Amino acid sequence: MSDETTRPSGPFRFGDRVQLTGPKARLHTITLREGGELHTHHGVLKHEQLVGQPDGSVVANSGGHEYLALRPLLRDFVMSMPRGAAIVYPKDAAQILAEADIFPGATVVEAGVGSGALSLWLLRAIGAEGRLLSFERRDDFAAVAKANVETFTGAAPANWDVVVGDLATELPQAVAAASVDRVVLDMLAPWECIDVVADALTPGGVVVCYVATATQLSRVAEYIRATGLFTEPDANETMVRGWHVEGLAVRPDHRMVAHTGFLVWARRLAPGAVPPEVKRRASKSSYGDEDVELWTPGAVGDRQITDKNLRKRVREAERAAEGARLAAAGSQGTTSPHDPHGTEDAGRTT
Ligand SMILES: C[S@@+](CC[C@H](N)C(=O)[O-])C[C@H]1O[C@@H](n2cnc3c(N)ncnc32)[C@H](O)[C@@H]1O
Repeated sequence: MSDETTRPSGPFRFGDRVQLTGPKARLHTITLREGGELHTHHGVLKHEQLVGQPDGSVVANSGGHEYLALRPLLRDFVMSMPRGAAIVYPKDAAQILAEADIFPGATVVEAGVGSGALSLWLLRAIGAEGRLLSFERRDDFAAVAKANVETFTGAAPANWDVVVGDLATELPQAVAAASVDRVVLDMLAPWECIDVVADALTPGGVVVCYVATATQLSRVAEYIRATGLFTEPDANETMVRGWHVEGLAVRPDHRMVAHTGFLVWARRLAPGAVPPEVKRRASKSSYGDEDVELWTPGAVGDRQITDKNLRKRVREAERAAEGARLAAAGSQGTTSPHDPHGTEDAGRTT
């Protein structure tokens, strides 16, 4: 994957993918082939014109129109590759690599594979010495993912296996207990796989779940906590705001991708270990209407005000209201500018 022929640098070679930015910033992505040509209504560009040129060169087509030629970066590729399922965006992939602590040589399990976007980031981070085992229950998505990975890397990576099937049933057969360094779950119901993940992970290993909604986040975090097999789960989300930087016009972009998903992660404890500080254990891994009744402000993390403090706040509020009333009635018979009809307080008892 990283030998001289597939390394994404050096002069262009046949077989390379090249992103061409042409007139009006239109993008064309081509794979350089002997005898290949790019035809547009601006003219013809022969692939061989690019071979031997350094990455980042500008070439002109038969009509004299110029194209900037660059090898696509991984983030360019994943954003434009064919998709079966929704992909992990580059900003989240970067964060997953960090929170999951993916390292060169790691044995990593991933599910589902979807379109293979995250697989590509994981493969790059584990390097040739690492091993990636990816599970996908839809064979059509697995096929898309395999094709995408092969397109980007130039060949099916020798250290990557794709298992078609449900992670919950396939993982125990695919790996020995406590043999996996890291697990990344990107699926609708990750809590259904936490038990097998706990068995597969080596003590100290990390599980990271990427979920789209707050309800999934809550459910998987509570499930992880309730097993007693992991450290306290942590969670975050990553918002990336682009900036426009041009002359004096330096400001945030007007538009951004405001939401993609949340990450929740935890580390596998050693067998039988009970961490010294367990803040709170949920007694149930799922919840219904009755449980929702129990979601007091304290349980959901809101600070509760004491009765004494509350009485103080009421007195303060009443004094402020009294002051406002006196100010409004400063000259008898006049009405408040915000209450031209003098009806603002009608019926109020406070
Ligand atoms: C959002 S996609 C994954 C996208 C992928 N991470 C990427 O970056 O391209 C979710 C995938 O998980 C698969 N999936 C859901 N539950 C699964 C399970 N229990 N085992 C294996 N695959 C599962 C779905 O079929 C779907 O393709």
